[in-house]
Amino acid sequence: MELRNRRILLTGASGGIGSALAQRLAAAGARLALVGRRHEALAQLASSLPGASIVVADLATAAGCRAAVEQAKASLSGVDVLVHLAGQGSFRCFSDEDPDAMEQMLRTNCVSAMWLAQAVLPQMTARGDGQLVFCGSVLGALALPGYTVYAASKFALRGFSEGLRRELADSGVSVTYVAPRAVRTALNPPEVYEMAKATRMAVDTPEAVAEQILAAMRRDAREAVLGWPESWFVRLNALWPALVDRAMRKQAEVVRRFAKPHPTQQTQAEQQTS
Ligand SMILES: NC(=O)c1ccc[n+]([C@@H]2O[C@H](COP(=O)([O-])OP(=O)(O)OC[C@H]3O[C@@H](n4cnc5c(N)ncnc54)[C@H](OP(=O)(O)O)[C@@H]3O)[C@@H](O)[C@H]2O)c1
Repeated sequence: MELRNRRILLTGASGGIGSALAQRLAAAGARLALVGRRHEALAQLASSLPGASIVVADLATAAGCRAAVEQAKASLSGVDVLVHLAGQGSFRCFSDEDPDAMEQMLRTNCVSAMWLAQAVLPQMTARGDGQLVFCGSVLGALALPGYTVYAASKFALRGFSEGLRRELADSGVSVTYVAPRAVRTALNPPEVYEMAKATRMAVDTPEAVAEQILAAMRRDAREAVLGWPESWFVRLNALWPALVDRAMRKQAEVVRRFAKPHPTQQTQAEQQTS
């Protein structure tokens, strides 16, 4: 896709990967509506990107997604491309997850993609032109200990992207699913980076990931799994999951050494032992 003069709704723009991508999209000549919850972070980013507008919205609700699309359409006079990066992370053992936080994660990481797509698609299909870009994760095809709920949200997002791409095949609207491996941003708590250091797990910079997302958008990629050997493990997991189960047997113990319970679960555990 040629990006010059494209009207792009970019969610997660206030985040690590999002702000790096916003700079690159603006440099490529795109016109941007930057979406996030933190007004100050968006305003600071927009001040360095000529013509960019900002939209403050909570995408964990249907009303927030609809409002974000309406505001973006109003400020850009339409939306040609949706790039949906907004997401939240979780690194903890499943027994330490908070029930409400699990639901919030599924809404933020997956259902929001459906709400946003429903709001932008009518205009795109009517024109017979458009692009939807969804940011998943390597964990959306290769679930690992410590990431059960996050992986579930990204598996769901990948399934949605795949189904929608096939449903829109004759519409002129393309669907691109990108799956980064670990990236050094505020999404991950410090213990993820401690584990990465101890286990020599690769961690990419947000700038490098933004470059790869930009490249995937330009070539209208259907799916881009970023990083080697992670992309190879994704294939192995699809073909021989039992083999990966065996290779991962010791990983749960490693995760237990680093991961911390959700604060609400920590308090409950303390109350039960006192
Ligand atoms: N970092 C990694 O290791 C990694 C690896 C693979 C995939 N990814 C994916 O990459 C994407 C970007 O993540 P990142 O690493 O750049 O994380 P980040 O720096 O924490 O940024 C997250 C972004 O999502 C927005 N967001 C979160 N909840 C939201 C909500 N309810 N409503 C509206 N906006 C919301 C945040 O906005 P505010 O801060 O303004 O609320 C922020 O702009 C995510 O989809 C993530 O799952 C990340």
